[in-house]
Amino acid sequence: MAVLRFPEENLLVNSEPEIREALAPLGVDYERWSLDRVSPDASADEVLGAYADEIEEMKRRGGYVTADVIDVNPGTPHLDAMLARFDKEHTHDEDEVRFILSGRGIFFLHINGRVASVEVGPGDMLRVPRGTTHWFTLCEDRRIRAIRWFQDTAGWIPHYTESGVDKGYQPLCFGPAYLGPRVVTTISA
Ligand SMILES: [Fe+2]
Repeated sequence: MAVLRFPEENLLVNSEPEIREALAPLGVDYERWSLDRVSPDASADEVLGAYADEIEEMKRRGGYVTADVIDVNPGTPHLDAMLARFDKEHTHDEDEVRFILSGRGIFFLHINGRVASVEVGPGDMLRVPRGTTHWFTLCEDRRIRAIRWFQDTAGWIPHYTESGVDKGYQPLCFGPAYLGPRVVTTISA
């Protein structure tokens, strides 16, 4: 389950319908998908086969031409360099679409002068439209496994804004503890 925060407003949203409703006006799609198709340690091909229907549906919805499975963990070669490509505010010429199989990370979305952080975890599907200013970081265990969709087989390239906005936000992960019953919560200072 994701955790959506608007840090400036001390607003935290942690239920599926409220997250979906809060992100929709920003043009960002959020959905919860089943994780019971394959075992967590299934191969990439097994994952792509198990989610073939969803993959094709997303291709139809978004014009994506290909999908793959990315697997990042502390042993991934050049992990710091990889993460450094995406932890500064940037845009892409195509959508950034992820279905999280395991691990956690945070998408910071900077839309209409407002910053939202979306901490995604297993079972979360997030679609960030092309042109959206955003940045991404992993949570402390530096692990994530996700299905990605692409509109261009050349992959996606970050266009940096150099705004420096990203420097004002700590990558604070709440984790699955926020699966609790609260729906919309104001964080006390
Ligand atoms: Fe990105």
